[in-house]
Amino acid sequence: MKQELYRVVYCSRIRLSGGEARIAGELRQILATSRRNNARADISGALLFANNCFAQTLEGPRAAVEQCFERIQNDPRHADVTVLEYGVTAAREFPKWSMAFAGDPATTTHDPLAFVVFEGAFARSRPDSGSAMLGLLHGLVRREEAWALA
Ligand SMILES: Cc1cc2nc3c(=O)[nH]c(=O)nc-3n(C[C@H](O)[C@H](O)[C@H](O)COP(=O)(O)O)c2cc1C
Repeated sequence: MKQELYRVVYCSRIRLSGGEARIAGELRQILATSRRNNARADISGALLFANNCFAQTLEGPRAAVEQCFERIQNDPRHADVTVLEYGVTAAREFPKWSMAFAGDPATTTHDPLAFVVFEGAFARSRPDSGSAMLGLLHGLVRREEAWALA
């Protein structure tokens, strides 16, 4: 039987001291690890780092997504992990990406739109925080793809 496709969307706050160079180094490491592990586990998704917060979506077979998210939740590099959406989904949002990165790893970006979405998400002030965050990830990844093509 084909395994159900699962998706989790969450946000968290970075817990790293040090300057931009240290954070950029950690981000590169997180992305490299994610791409290696996720490709092997049939997981796709996207990661945003902005305003000292992370947002991420993982999508793939249920067991793989659960195992991966368990490791992520225990990672001391971030805290306040807030789940915005969790469950079965019909289709992948990021089928081409083992982990797309929305943001600039060289800087600790402040993005005003992301700020609004993060604030709402951490406060859980809206029931649709998960789809708002997915929409933000989608828009940013598409923007990066457009730049890559330019
Ligand atoms: C914000 C954030 C996102 C992460 N995303 C992933 C991910 O998508 N896949 C993954 O395998 N590890 C991810 N990690 C890293 C895991 O927490 C953990 O360090 C890693 O899976 C360990 O893998 P390894 O045993 O191959 O080194 C993430 C960590 C953070 C802080």
